[in-house]
Amino acid sequence: MKKIAVAFTALAAVGAVALAGCGGGSSSSTTSAAGGDTTSAAAGGFEAGATIGISLPQKTSQNWVEAEQMFNEGLKAAGYNPVVQFANNGASEQQSQIESMIQQGAKVIVIGAVDGSQLSTQVENAQSQGVKVIAYDRLIKETKAVDLYVAYDNEKVGELQGQALLEGLAARKGSGPYNIELIAGSNDDANSKPFFEGAMSVLQPKIDDGTLKILSGQTTQDKVATEGWDPAKVQTRMDAIISGFYKSEPLDGILSPNDTLGRAAIQSATDAGLDTPVVTGQDSEDESVTSVAEGKQYQTIYKDTRGLVDAVLKQIELAKDGKAFESNGSANNGTIDVPADYLTPVSVTQANILQAYANDATRLKLAEASCTDACK
Ligand code: BGC
Repeated sequence: MKKIAVAFTALAAVGAVALAGCGGGSSSSTTSAAGGDTTSAAAGGFEAGATIGISLPQKTSQNWVEAEQMFNEGLKAAGYNPVVQFANNGASEQQSQIESMIQQGAKVIVIGAVDGSQLSTQVENAQSQGVKVIAYDRLIKETKAVDLYVAYDNEKVGELQGQALLEGLAARKGSGPYNIELIAGSNDDANSKPFFEGAMSVLQPKIDDGTLKILSGQTTQDKVATEGWDPAKVQTRMDAIISGFYKSEPLDGILSPNDTLGRAAIQSATDAGLDTPVVTGQDSEDESVTSVAEGKQYQTIYKDTRGLVDAVLKQIELAKDGKAFESNGSANNGTIDVPADYLTPVSVTQANILQAYANDATRLKLAEASCTDACK
């Protein structure tokens, strides 16, 4: 029996995290909180105790579960009435949850979109009623009705993954050429493209010069996408690729866009009796922190959810006081340049794991418990 390499058993353990000002968000310039609509409620703000809607996607990784708890606790502590919901059944459920938040009188709706291209009707309705719309972690596309985007820099996440893969291959396998395979996230998630393109900006030159070989020939985002970020799909796909192309050739590395899928890829290689390839990840999920510390998964990305939630809470406070949102960049969503509050992701390997989690007691403890001598 093969094990599906995903488990959220550790998710209950995330409760201890406080909303102390963590993360790297620095805001420098201001933009209209109403996306240019000066007649909206931005001028006057809204009452303390207002309803704030938080619409999250499916629980496809630990960060979303952490966000649910942190939003509930942080908003309550600041005196608001939080309505925090997951859209576990997908885009249409999220559409009706957002409509219902508008009807409940939410003053701000914060959205981690299941499908960033399926929400224009709902966010336009929200904005027309003076509700502020914040895209959280994932951009909302093809509409002008997004007031702010708060996220870690996703293109940078992809670049860091590409760089880590090359670095890991050199460190673990010596000189090339190397055989690798690629995995991308779900196509309906607006983040999957910047993750993949960021990574390919680093890897493509090495594919072109023959340093990296992809024996399956599956090289485009469409071909390597993982519907619904489902780790079982990765395992099935990798099983087929390994039995088709890596019976007698080594599989040296796998680009994975997040931890959940990275662990599924490692499981597939292990089941096939291969040496563990150099595998990238993202989210610093508990199981992957342990895996990186013990030298199995090569890399993960730390996008501290406390920092992201904290950044959103600060922006909500500004809107409440009738002040403009603060941004330090922008993101083109196909219709407008959405003002963005970007935070900086951190790449984590054994080489920096103890420093990377120095301010995160839960992850630091996990890392320390599994670190080999290679941890610094
Ligand atoms: C998030 C990642 C996460 C993925 C799957 C993405 O939009 O940015 O952190 O791993 O969704 O849940």
